[in-house]
Amino acid sequence: MLYLKYKPLSFSPHCLFLPLFTMVGSTSVLKAIPQDILNRLWTAKETRVSLKHLYILGKQVNKTRQTPSPAIKIPSEFLCSELPIRYGHMLKMLHAHPLATTSPAMQTVANRYVSDTQLLTRLSVPSTEMESSQFLEVLRTLRRRQCGSLLRLRHGLLTETQGDERAQDAVQGFLDQCNGLGVGVNLLIGEHLCLHDKGHNLVQQIDPVKVAQNAIQEAQRYCAETHNVTAPQVQLVCKYPNLSTTYVPAHLHRILFELLTNSLTATIKHQKTAPVKLTLVKGHEDVTIRLSDEGGGISAREMHSAWRYHINPHHKALLDHDQDDAQVEFDSKRGLRFARLLARYFGGDLNLISMEGYGTDAFLALSRDDAVMENYPVSNLTETELY
Ligand SMILES: Nc1ncnc2c1ncn2[C@@H]1O[C@H](COP(=O)(O)OP(=O)(O)OP(=O)(O)O)[C@@H](O)[C@H]1O
Ligand SMILES: [Mg+2]
Repeated sequence: MLYLKYKPLSFSPHCLFLPLFTMVGSTSVLKAIPQDILNRLWTAKETRVSLKHLYILGKQVNKTRQTPSPAIKIPSEFLCSELPIRYGHMLKMLHAHPLATTSPAMQTVANRYVSDTQLLTRLSVPSTEMESSQFLEVLRTLRRRQCGSLLRLRHGLLTETQGDERAQDAVQGFLDQCNGLGVGVNLLIGEHLCLHDKGHNLVQQIDPVKVAQNAIQEAQRYCAETHNVTAPQVQLVCKYPNLSTTYVPAHLHRILFELLTNSLTATIKHQKTAPVKLTLVKGHEDVTIRLSDEGGGISAREMHSAWRYHINPHHKALLDHDQDDAQVEFDSKRGLRFARLLARYFGGDLNLISMEGYGTDAFLALSRDDAVMENYPVSNLTETELY
């Protein structure tokens, strides 16, 4: 049986996080936690997983129909050991950033992560049905709050640095690091919840054509509503009848949705009637998807800003009216840079080639090697810098 490497912490997560309860601002982490505990928390290595790990593990869990399934204990144990480490890394990044002491957004989000870490301390491997439902409730809360925290961090930092190009540039990489960690946490929690709620894996053997068809419909609806016009046509071309790869369908949907809304919007704005063309190709190593539009292209100067997180007015409206973060996960668009982060997460990539005055081609490659481990940018702070 496949068993995800369960790496017990050499300390109890309960006692580890108790000192955090008193923390108010991100800088007070240093004062609030004994240095040896802080050191172990921040230097603990995460266990990265592959699509294959998650896929096979889910299949094992599904084989057992007992409730609570004894097999589900494996991912529960893994979550109990892994989530504190990943939340610890998030706290480290939020604490160590130069804006930690001056940015209200950073402080708000750091405090949210402290309370979430506090919630994590209640997480122990469930052995009864009641414990199991409490465990799931904590996971749901953590996932919802994290979506809200990451959107608040993005919106807050971009707003606070508005007008300062260098500061905005500096914030981009940091947001990638935080979002990358967030994607991983969301994936681990999401896989567990999906197995429990829907009885199947989040990671699946997918037909990218079917995912593309759904994304096309949703993007056309979104663009028709946003621009109050009939959305341009999308022509889907795929010569491979049984295209299949292991992937997270929600990730592919999100990436394609972002690309399609961009192409459809550009086509509408450029007043073109030519359909957007989506081509899927099965390679030996990759599934490659090309999206071509005649939406006028992007100039070399604009290309730099096209790849940046930008302030999205909808995010503010959403966050202002949704203190509980109930809507954030579903309603928030994330843009091109987030789509690239997702594409790279399991070894793929996303590129744009543009002909200014004519149109844009987006190239998305998904690695077909399901053994590729999670790939996200990490902070390169040394221990000395941290202390
Ligand atoms: N296919 C395209 N044709 C022309 N311009 C594009 C295309 N794709 C992206 N862009 C440019 O890149 C910018 C950034 O794209 P991105 O998707 O990140 O944000 P957005 O579309 O403005 O907003 P949202 O966050 O709602 O997606 C766009 O505003 C647009 O100027
Ligand atoms: Mg967009």
